[in-house]
Amino acid sequence: MKNILVTGAAGFIGSAFARYMVKNYPHYNIVVYDKLTYAGNLENLLPISDEPNYRFVQGDIADRNAVQRSFDEFQIDTVVNFAAESHVDRSILQADAFIHTDVVGVYILLDTAKAHGIERILHVSTDEVYGDIHSGFSVETDGFAPNSPYAASKAGGEMMVRAYHITHGMNTVITRGSNTYGPYQYPEKLLPFFITEAIDERKLPVYGDGRQVRDWLFVEDHVTGIDTALHHGKAGEAYNIAGEDLHENIEVTHRLLSLLGKSKDLIKHVPDREGHDRRYAMNCDKLRGLGWKQQFNFTDGLEATVNWYQNNLWWWRKIKTGDYLEYYRQQYAARLAAAEE
Ligand code: NAD
Ligand code: TYD
Repeated sequence: MKNILVTGAAGFIGSAFARYMVKNYPHYNIVVYDKLTYAGNLENLLPISDEPNYRFVQGDIADRNAVQRSFDEFQIDTVVNFAAESHVDRSILQADAFIHTDVVGVYILLDTAKAHGIERILHVSTDEVYGDIHSGFSVETDGFAPNSPYAASKAGGEMMVRAYHITHGMNTVITRGSNTYGPYQYPEKLLPFFITEAIDERKLPVYGDGRQVRDWLFVEDHVTGIDTALHHGKAGEAYNIAGEDLHENIEVTHRLLSLLGKSKDLIKHVPDREGHDRRYAMNCDKLRGLGWKQQFNFTDGLEATVNWYQNNLWWWRKIKTGDYLEYYRQQYAARLAAAEE
C-alpha cells in the first residue's frame, strides 16, 4: 500500500480520515477524490492542505473516465470509499442522488478498480443496512432489512462490493459504522444541527416522542476503526464499528442543552420522520479481535463536539445560508407549524 485514493473525503468522516492518514502515515500518498456536493467542503481539509503527501482532485465516483484518470495519474493501489449521499431525511424528500452515488457510483468505482488492478478497496457502510433492531445487537452475518431510501441504497452498494469479491476475487473490505459525531459534521445531522440551532436560541425539532435509540461513535474512533480494517481486515469480510454508547434522542438533546447552558424550552416535539427506525445497535467484537477499541465515551466526545461548534462559528455560519435554508424550509417549516397547533 502506497498511493491511496480516498473518495468522498471532503465530507465529515472522510476528511477526518484524510487528516489522520496524512499525519500518521507520511510514507503514504493520500489523494482525496470528491465531487464537492453540498456536503463536501475543502475547509475540512485545510489542516493538511500544505502537506507534501496530500492531493485533491474534484470528481464524481460515477464518472468512469475521471476515476480512471486519477488511478493512472497517481498510480493508485488502494481505494477507501466514503463518497455517498448520507442524510436519511434528504433521501425521503428525493432519492435520485442516493441511487446515483451510493449504488451506481459504487459499481463504477469497483469496476474501474478491477480493470486497473487495485490491490485493496475498503468500502465505508453503515449500521442502517441492518434495519430496526428492537433488542440485542447486530453481528456482521445478520441479514439486511434497510428501511429508508438511504439505507436501501447503502445496502445496494454493499451487495455490489460483495459480488465483486465473490465473482471477480477482488480484495474488498466493508466497514459498518454507527451514528458518528464530532467536529466538521455538516449541520443537518442531529448533533451539529441541534448544537448550532441551540447556540442561536432556535427551536430543536425532536421527531415524535424522541425515544429512538442511536449508538454514538466519536469520529476519531470511527477513523481508527477504518484504519484497523484497512490494514488488518480479511478480504471479503465486513466489520462493525460501534461506539457501544446507546442513548435516546431526547436524552442527547437534554445533554447538549445543558452543556450549552440553554433552556429545555427550545425543545419542540414535531411529527415523526416517515419510516423512522426506533433503534440501531451493533456488536463490534469482530473488529476488537483485530486490536481496535474506542478511545472516547459519549460524555467526553459530546463535550468536545459542543466546544468545537462554539469555537468555530466561522465554519458553520456560512454553511447555514443559501440552499441550506431552502432544505431547512422543506424539512422543518410544516413540521414546526404543525407542532405549534
Ligand atoms: P458527508 O455527507 O459528510 O460527506 C459525503 C462526501 O461525499 C461529501 O464530501 C460529498 O461531496 C462526497 N460525494 C457525494 N457524492 C459523490 C460522488 N458521486 N462522487 C464523489 N464524491 C461524492 O458524509 P459522512 O457523514 O462523512 O459519511 C461518509 C460515509 O460514511 C458515507 O458513506 C456514509 O454512508 C457512511 N457513514 C456515515 C455515518 C454518519 O453517522 N455520518 C455513520 C456510518 C456510516
Ligand atoms: P440523524 O442524525 O439524521 O441520523 P440517522 O437518522 O442516520 O440515525 O438522526 C439521528 C436521530 O435523531 C434519528 O433518530 C432522527 C432524530 N432527529 C430528530 O429527532 N430531529 C432532527 O431534526 C434530526 C435531523 C434527527
